[in-house]
Amino acid sequence: MEMLNPQYFIETFGCQMNVADSELVAGMLQKCGYSETRDMTQADIIFMNTCAIREKAEETVHHRLDSIQHLKKRKPEMIFGVLGCMAQNLKNDLLESKPYVDVILGPDSYRRIPEIINNRKKQNGHEVDTRLSKYEVYDNLMPSRQEGVNAFVSISRGCDKFCTFCIVPFTRGRERSRSNDSIIGEVKDAVNNGFAEITLLGQNVNSYRTEEGKFPHLLEAVAMVPGVKRIRYMSPHPQDMDDHLLQVMSEHENICNYVHLPLQAGADRILQRMNRTYSKTEFLNLVDTIRKYIPNCSISTDIIVGFPGETNADYEETLEVMNKVVFDRAFMFKYSSRPGTKAAEYTDQVDEDIKQERLARLIDLQQTHTLEANQRHIGKVLKVMVEKESKKSPLQWSGRTEGNMGVIFDKNEEQIKDIVNILIQDAQGVSMFGNRVLEKEMIHEIN
Ligand code: 5AD
Ligand code: SF4
Repeated sequence: MEMLNPQYFIETFGCQMNVADSELVAGMLQKCGYSETRDMTQADIIFMNTCAIREKAEETVHHRLDSIQHLKKRKPEMIFGVLGCMAQNLKNDLLESKPYVDVILGPDSYRRIPEIINNRKKQNGHEVDTRLSKYEVYDNLMPSRQEGVNAFVSISRGCDKFCTFCIVPFTRGRERSRSNDSIIGEVKDAVNNGFAEITLLGQNVNSYRTEEGKFPHLLEAVAMVPGVKRIRYMSPHPQDMDDHLLQVMSEHENICNYVHLPLQAGADRILQRMNRTYSKTEFLNLVDTIRKYIPNCSISTDIIVGFPGETNADYEETLEVMNKVVFDRAFMFKYSSRPGTKAAEYTDQVDEDIKQERLARLIDLQQTHTLEANQRHIGKVLKVMVEKESKKSPLQWSGRTEGNMGVIFDKNEEQIKDIVNILIQDAQGVSMFGNRVLEKEMIHEIN
């Protein structure tokens, strides 16, 4: 029986790569004749695109699945699927506790979705596909993007770095890069569809390489696409940052003066056990080099506390690096043991309460640094892209600096996606507040 106006609902957990993957899947479902619904009770397909990075991420998904299983019971013909990293990680085991799940697809299996939908029309039964591919980059698939000013464009998939704490090399497989042409094609397409900001995504975005060139070449090519007002990239690995990349960043106005540079830990001993391939000194030197090329560059980071064997002294070294760099922002995590990774086998795991204590202190310190970093902008004019109406007032806009910080300011004639000059007047929490400075006033000021 053919369905009339079939509908899908996708919920996404985890990182931006997952957001981009969900957009790919949405594009595929639309091609199959499905349209999106925001009401999951109406859906004929429900897909949960999942994350496995920490135990808590998996727990969240488990709870979510349990809390909506009644929808499947009420509507047995519906397709209920688990996609992404947790699907890849748990495979068939997921069915043991969740027999109501119909489809389990790892991150390299999404091309099979149309076929699976067709099969389901003929027969019921589980479909599990968690084969990883050396080649799949989903070229030539058109994503259906979420509305907004920013388009995520995935340029590579997988990871070969094998940091000892990380599950990603196992859930997303070997690293592979998409062709230059298909990326540029997708960027042009995004611009034609009204997106003003492009964020290039990869698990290790700056180890991108094809026969046509490495990451800096690609970044430059993207910067030259007419209509691209802003470019960001996520996440680079410190090991693959080079002068050429910083040179390209400093030469192109539309590449944001912003680097997300995951530190993970400050002590050499821990960095080594994490297999991060750089020392504390090398990281600090890299920060100096970045600031030499791009003096006003914002830098954010990721930090893990309580990695196996981390002593108090090691932890203090992490704080020391933070104090030296003063990151604009940091994403901070307690180490979570992931079965299958090397670090999960280390015998010197850190107690939960110590991890908790270390994390709390780290968060406190970063709060003061974020405020400090934002306060240094007070009295300066920053380029802010208008993103949306402020939640607090319909008379105000909420926008973003190149450094990816939120700025609230009163509305004038500008529109969403405009980049305007904002004189920063105040900083509170993670937000800044300011007023628009018109171009003619700027000239006046300079004169
Ligand atoms: N435990 C805690 N944090 C982790 N991350 C990756 N793996 C783990 C883990 N096992 C963090 C890292 C990474 C970010 C995306 O998640 O800091 O940069
Ligand atoms: Fe993204 Fe990593 Fe989570 Fe997978 S495990 S969704 S790659 S953050």
